[in-house]
Amino acid sequence: MERVKKVGIIGAGHVGSTLAYILSANTPYEIVLQDKDKDRARGMLLDMFQASCVGPKFTKLGVIADPKDLKGCDLIVIAAGSPRLPGMSRNDLLFANAKVISEICKDIKENSPEAILLLVTNPLDAMVYTALRETGFKHKQILGMAGVLDSARMASFIYEKLKCAPGQIVAPVMGGHGDDMVPLARFSSVNGVPLNELLSQEEIQEVIERTKNAGAEIVSCLKKGSAYFAPARATAEMVIAIMSDSRKILPSAVYLNGEYGYKDVVGGVPVELGINGVERIVELQLNQEEKAHFDRSIQSVEALINELKTNYFK
Ligand SMILES: NC(=O)c1ccc[n+]([C@@H]2O[C@H](COP(=O)([O-])OP(=O)(O)OC[C@H]3O[C@@H](n4cnc5c(N)ncnc54)[C@H](O)[C@@H]3O)[C@@H](O)[C@H]2O)c1
Repeated sequence: MERVKKVGIIGAGHVGSTLAYILSANTPYEIVLQDKDKDRARGMLLDMFQASCVGPKFTKLGVIADPKDLKGCDLIVIAAGSPRLPGMSRNDLLFANAKVISEICKDIKENSPEAILLLVTNPLDAMVYTALRETGFKHKQILGMAGVLDSARMASFIYEKLKCAPGQIVAPVMGGHGDDMVPLARFSSVNGVPLNELLSQEEIQEVIERTKNAGAEIVSCLKKGSAYFAPARATAEMVIAIMSDSRKILPSAVYLNGEYGYKDVVGGVPVELGINGVERIVELQLNQEEKAHFDRSIQSVEALINELKTNYFK
């Protein structure tokens, strides 16, 4: 019988606990949860286990009380750290969350050096870079979730305009997970029908602008905290794609080593996901305008990484 896969989730806040719940309800994986607030992790775990006992299917859930409990994890999601508040950009979290990632990476390096790491904490691309630097793990072993979420958001805004074709909209978003992310209208389609045959240029521009501001729109409604249902579901999609060795191509934040003309930086690009994490980076042929947007976006990530190199990494 195949060994049950073990998924660690560090950060049992809004995103981490919702992710744990989605995985517990939909997969056979053993799930272990950790939070610096140990009571919170325990409370979430009890509630989730009781939820799993409503039906006939039990889920194996545990709390990470000691870093040694990370041993044996096949994949670890890091969703620990502060979310942004109204008026804050994702980048305002840079140094505070880098410290959180560094602490967590030390424990992972000691106890689960073979695990795939999937980061959610913002500013996402810079946190993936921090994890690579602090663990020294292989590039293919560490990636970040943002593009799946941004693409779902773009699809939701296209659906609002079309009022049809639920589940058939593909709308890829590339670049860094920041204000200058790159929604790719030219590569968007509805079951093969190009987007520009269904919406006017003005409507497409509205979709693009709303996609870029989608996170901030929710932050301003919630007043405290940021979005978590769609982020958790997008993360679950990536966890399952990796753990099932699906070879799905999903936008993911990964280390670029010459791809798209960039080195030593992290950015969101289409990636084939499998049991080793990043199986292959797909290079799209961007036109001049798309490439210029992508360059701007990656340069913003480079600026954050340079901040970390100058003022944070020892
Ligand atoms: N990549 C994306 O697309 C995306 C989407 C949504 C949220 N996020 C980011 O995910 C992170 C979590 O968001 P949230 O809404 O769940 O926040 P939250 O405040 O609800 O939860 C964060 C949790 O992390 C815990 N924590 C802090 N430091 C820790 C440490 N050293 N070890 C273990 N746990 C620790 C806190 O106790 C808290 O429970 C934020 O940085 C947010 O910006 C990213």
